Amino acid sequence: MLLPASVLIGLLCLNHAGSVEGFARLQDDVELRSAFSVARTSSMEGGPKMTVTFDTVYVNIGGDFDAKAGLFRCRIPGAYYFSFTVGKFPHKDLSVMLMKNRNEVQAIVYEENAGEERKVQSQSVMLQLEFGDTVWLRLHGDPRYALYSNTGHYTTFNGYLVYPDTYDYQTHHHETHHDPQQPLQDSIAPPSSNQANTGPAAKEEDKELQHREEEEEDEEEDDEDDQRSAFSVGRTQSIVGVDQVGLPQHQPVSFDTAFVNIGEDFNVTEGVFTCRVPGAYYFSFNVGKLPQKTLSVKLMKNRLEVQAMIYDDSQGEKALQSQSLMLSLKPGDTVWLYSHQRDGFGAYSNHAKYITFTGFLVYPDFPTSTAAATATSQSYADKKP
Ligand SMILES: *[C@@H]1O[C@H](CO)[C@@H](O)[C@H](O)[C@H]1NC(C)=O
Repeated sequence: MLLPASVLIGLLCLNHAGSVEGFARLQDDVELRSAFSVARTSSMEGGPKMTVTFDTVYVNIGGDFDAKAGLFRCRIPGAYYFSFTVGKFPHKDLSVMLMKNRNEVQAIVYEENAGEERKVQSQSVMLQLEFGDTVWLRLHGDPRYALYSNTGHYTTFNGYLVYPDTYDYQTHHHETHHDPQQPLQDSIAPPSSNQANTGPAAKEEDKELQHREEEEEDEEEDDEDDQRSAFSVGRTQSIVGVDQVGLPQHQPVSFDTAFVNIGEDFNVTEGVFTCRVPGAYYFSFNVGKLPQKTLSVKLMKNRLEVQAMIYDDSQGEKALQSQSLMLSLKPGDTVWLYSHQRDGFGAYSNHAKYITFTGFLVYPDFPTSTAAATATSQSYADKKP
């Protein structure tokens, strides 16, 4: 999958193709990749060693995931999308948390069900990571809990970089790659040499280059503001539907935790995403089932357009349901979750965050003839060699 960050960097590369900077950007593009996808071929019982490890590696671009240790370590700061699926072991309960660093719980997969059935449960969130942050899965330490897997790979774990902190990263890059070279060149070149790079013309060239680099950095910052959009939020409280006249109908599910809100397009307290950058967006949501209640949560667009839903009317205990979808959005479109507001319906969550909602721009639309878009493409055209 081509990520929005790659698209953005790719555009920059195209515009500067042929120049030295263009080539440097191309290398940055390759360096700005991080993705893993792993699976586990055996079951695991709750015990002192709680980190879920993996023995099958499908993808490990950048080598940031240590399968034997079960640990992802962030090398490129940025926003990452993580998803995992774990199997429920017969006659055991299931509790697997997505952890950040030593003990920061991000989200949970849970099924309280000592029944004999086997099934899988999934969860997904986007996290903003700094260099050196670790992300891993923790199985509950009590032997009452276990996760199931076999050579059919019930248990999988994926993560990939969606938006690198490009601006910081490249600024840092300029410092480490360009600055140390400068004194090196000076010391190598003999002071009396007639080489082209010591004349006044070279000085002018240097100045121009520096100027151009500054311009490019400004442009990058603007592009970043224009073209990135991502949110990932969690809710730590259950939702219980009640028959009550006078309450506003079709209230969006609200949230209390924001993992990521790039572009600030998601209003956390209101629970509504409003599209700013037109394009194709990926959405995923996960919701816990409340015992004795029917779970019915819909992904809504604008006022009342149902896009997808999750449903569970089993008499069962706590469990999770998941859904994901891609939507094509125009500026001003809203996307939100609706949990059926009637007696007998509800959704479960607690501090570990069963309820999560994530969305991010995968491909922005190509600029059309709107004023803003014209301005953008004009500035691109100006930069063409
Ligand atoms: C979120 O929505 C509420 C209710 O409409 C509004 O009062 C609040 O200002 C919004 N917050 C942001 C950050 O826009």
